[in-house]
Amino acid sequence: MGKPLAYKILENHLVSGRLVPGEEIAIKIDQTLTQDATGTMAYLEFEAIGIDRVKTELSVSYVDHNILQSDFKNADDHRFLQSIAKRYGIWFSKPGNGICHQVHLERFARPGKTLLGSDSHTPTAGGCGMIAIGAGGLDVAMAMAGKPFYLRTPKIVGVYLEGKLQPWVTARDIALYLLSKLTVKGGLGKILEYFGPGIKYLSVPERATICNLGTEMGATTSIFPSDEITRKWLIAQGREQDFVELLPDENAQYDEIIEVDLSKLEPLCACPSSPDNVKRVAEEAGKPVAQVIIGSCANSSLKDLLVVAKVLEKYKVHPDVSFEVNPGSLQVLENLVVLSGLKSLLEGGTRLHQSGCLGCIGMGQAPPTNSISLRTFTRNFPGRSGTNPDFVYLVSPETAVASAIKGVITDPRELGEYPEVVLPEKFIINDTLLIPPLPEDEAKKVEIIRGPNIAPLPPFDPLPETLEGIFVLKVGDNITTDHIMPAGAQILPLRSNLPAISQFVYKNVDPDFAKKSLELKEKGLAVGIVGGENYGQGSSREHAALAPRYLGVRVKLARSFARIHRSNLINFGILPLTFENPADYEKISQGDSFIIENIRNLIEKGEKRVKIIIKGKGEVWALAELTERERECILKGSLLNLAKAG
Ligand code: F3S
Repeated sequence: MGKPLAYKILENHLVSGRLVPGEEIAIKIDQTLTQDATGTMAYLEFEAIGIDRVKTELSVSYVDHNILQSDFKNADDHRFLQSIAKRYGIWFSKPGNGICHQVHLERFARPGKTLLGSDSHTPTAGGCGMIAIGAGGLDVAMAMAGKPFYLRTPKIVGVYLEGKLQPWVTARDIALYLLSKLTVKGGLGKILEYFGPGIKYLSVPERATICNLGTEMGATTSIFPSDEITRKWLIAQGREQDFVELLPDENAQYDEIIEVDLSKLEPLCACPSSPDNVKRVAEEAGKPVAQVIIGSCANSSLKDLLVVAKVLEKYKVHPDVSFEVNPGSLQVLENLVVLSGLKSLLEGGTRLHQSGCLGCIGMGQAPPTNSISLRTFTRNFPGRSGTNPDFVYLVSPETAVASAIKGVITDPRELGEYPEVVLPEKFIINDTLLIPPLPEDEAKKVEIIRGPNIAPLPPFDPLPETLEGIFVLKVGDNITTDHIMPAGAQILPLRSNLPAISQFVYKNVDPDFAKKSLELKEKGLAVGIVGGENYGQGSSREHAALAPRYLGVRVKLARSFARIHRSNLINFGILPLTFENPADYEKISQGDSFIIENIRNLIEKGEKRVKIIIKGKGEVWALAELTERERECILKGSLLNLAKAG
């Protein structure tokens, strides 16, 4: 039976387990990446493991999320990250060099390798034929320490692309079409593997856009083959030596196949406030827009910006629209300058920002009240953009610029002929903001510089015999990590200070959540949370597990969990339970007291069924579907305790 490409790469990296969907496997990780919002904690954890130098082929620490330096905190964190990189043999990408995924695709992505990143959009590198997975910071710290990464073998969905996109229809529209079919949870437990005659028309950055947005479908990762298009990309990056042809077997067996005729697609948009709330742009046309932003790891490549620049050679931005461009990387910006694209952007009415995440993580660029913002970003969950309610739409760069010109949501096909965009065969490469690791003997002498904002990690107590406490919060379906641990300019600078950042947990859902939880913790009671389907979707933000744990959360009972969040809960000793009978969700109210007797013993024995006594209401049965390693982690109180124990 022929194998999909994803299984061939996984097989080459298999440390333990069998490639049978649902079974736990451990794989060797070749490369890691961190970004600053998750990285400071990941490196504190790496230090706690006590390894002298990273054991991966390559590890990179990017500073792209939190690059505004409105006081000492971010600047201190950047210096901490740089000194850690020097000390432990890690590449360091300085603020201004660009978004981790764009820079990684340009400078480091290698077909056939595995990449683990403490950012949920790490699968972007799948556009270059690698298995790239997003994970919590602690998982990445373990990978840097040379430990394998554990996951349940995903099913492989073959996405068969045929035909060719019409002018003005883009890679973003392919991803939005799939989001409309699969929704934000349709990719759970799956790898999306693209194949078919249509892929030859898609460049590596376009493939990367599609892989990037697979994250919004909940997919473990997404991957394209490594073919002539990949070779062209690597040549353009001066890295032809990294090329290797990698294709699925001719008769590869997929668990499921989705067919997409590219020629039939049209411009699409994700309406407020979920990436799967997809409509045709034509249906939303005519609504006034106040802000349009081109940027983020999904759509800020050189091609994206050049198309926009070409359009702006002919048109000017509407006077009522703030049209903003955040280039994906320094390389994108520099090549844009050389190709005269920057001149057209500026003369057309663009407000230019530095390369980085910026508004995508709520660091500035909030739109005005009650007005529509069109963005080429990855997600439009409520609260992510810095306003509430949100009117954020996700669109392609083509739809974005057409709307910026007209001042209303506009189908880009109205602009007439598609501009001719020629990309250079060799990009101008400028790695001056990318600092290579120091040799081992020099690295050993480096002193790590810690600012006052960096608090040491607290201890994680083991699972008690019995869990007794209160369900302090009950929430609905599709709760995101942005709901649990919001981002934004006020909160992100506290990422290396757990007592401070934990005050913001669920702040927009229940402003007193942190206070109530800490009071229970002081009394020795456990905090519980009840959730619906797909609990914890969105980012890889381990603070969404770590900060609640600091507040005393010990159990989360949901109808189902998103993959990365579930792993993060286990990594920090929070028990993820699912309802045996999903209808029991209705039986529990916020504020109910609960007891789970002998929980330690049940987990030790590997019992799957767990009885939760809800005081005054009776019993609810839950499932603890944990592997042996996960059980050990829960018992010890955290993966860190487990790693230290040997
Ligand atoms: Fe940054 Fe937004 Fe991507 S925060 S890594 S640009 S999803």
